[in-house]
Amino acid sequence: MVSYKDLGLVNTREMFAKAIKGGYAIPAFNFNNMEQMQAIISACVETSSPVILQVSSGARKYANQTLLRYMAQGAVEYAKELGKNIPIVLHLDHGNSFELCKSCIDMGFSSVMIDGSSLPYEENVALTKQVVDYAHQFDVTVEGELGVLAGVEDEVASEHSHYTDPADVEDFVKKTGVDSLAISIGTSHGANKFKPEQCTRNAEGILVPPPLRFDILKEIEERIPGFPIVLHGSSSVPQEYVKIINTHGGALKDAVGIPEEQLREAAKSAVCKINIDSDGRLAMTAAVRKIFVENPAEFDPRKYLGPARDELKKLYMHKCENVLGSAGKAE
Ligand code: G3H
Ligand code: 13P
Ligand code: ZN
Repeated sequence: MVSYKDLGLVNTREMFAKAIKGGYAIPAFNFNNMEQMQAIISACVETSSPVILQVSSGARKYANQTLLRYMAQGAVEYAKELGKNIPIVLHLDHGNSFELCKSCIDMGFSSVMIDGSSLPYEENVALTKQVVDYAHQFDVTVEGELGVLAGVEDEVASEHSHYTDPADVEDFVKKTGVDSLAISIGTSHGANKFKPEQCTRNAEGILVPPPLRFDILKEIEERIPGFPIVLHGSSSVPQEYVKIINTHGGALKDAVGIPEEQLREAAKSAVCKINIDSDGRLAMTAAVRKIFVENPAEFDPRKYLGPARDELKKLYMHKCENVLGSAGKAE
């Protein structure tokens, strides 16, 4: 049994309380490898932002659970070496079983998500409560989910979204004891968040998605005032990256995300954690594709992973400074 406290990590409790009070959101960036971890930590140290290092079960399979845990521990030391002891959470993204959540808690995670959103309501309540009862013994915080996002939720794939029903949230929070709640108000995972027929087109022919359901968010906030809300599927799918990818051999069609102004708006509310993975994937892919086309003789991984890491850091700094408003909040 490893305690996250011995690794220098923190849970989400204080972070979320401050974020709601301050009208900003904490970035939850997914990572699978060293370059992503370096980009996240250096961006958050430079902008002085608290951060959630997010690991999916797919990431655990890809990178090895032990390595990821030591990388998170390394991230704490790396931040100090860069000059700032920012608060860092190690969080399991979309946990789909009690056993997976328990294993992460036992291995040093400071926060876990149990995603029972695809289960019938009462089963979601029972599973979430089981995880909360275990996690709270070790002061580990738990995120639950109500409502279904379209697209792939890690191992859980769903073709259709259904919005969170505000009538359920009070009961769910009370019965489960969760520390935060992920909701569905129109975001979804991946780089194709909406079908073209759901969007309009602007003058340049770029797809404009339907707005997030701020009315549902408002009703949820009224029912559970001050309770931490989480937004998944919050990549904005920057069109400059899509363009670089597609003009350098890629084939991303109809890629569209959530406009950053809407995320900024959400961050001012009880939304205090915003999950971003796909934008980072796009930034790295754009950088690597460009180098491969412009310099086909290059075969030193540092010469393409290094610039990809630089681009990722730039993107994350922009998110903290201009979208989530978390810059300066680690002071
Ligand atoms: O919600 C999904 C995250 O973007 C993680 O994706 O399961 O491919 O690691 P992944
Ligand atoms: P994106 O695919 O929009 O980056 O969402 C990531 C996410 O929600 C991880 O849980
Ligand atoms: Zn998610």
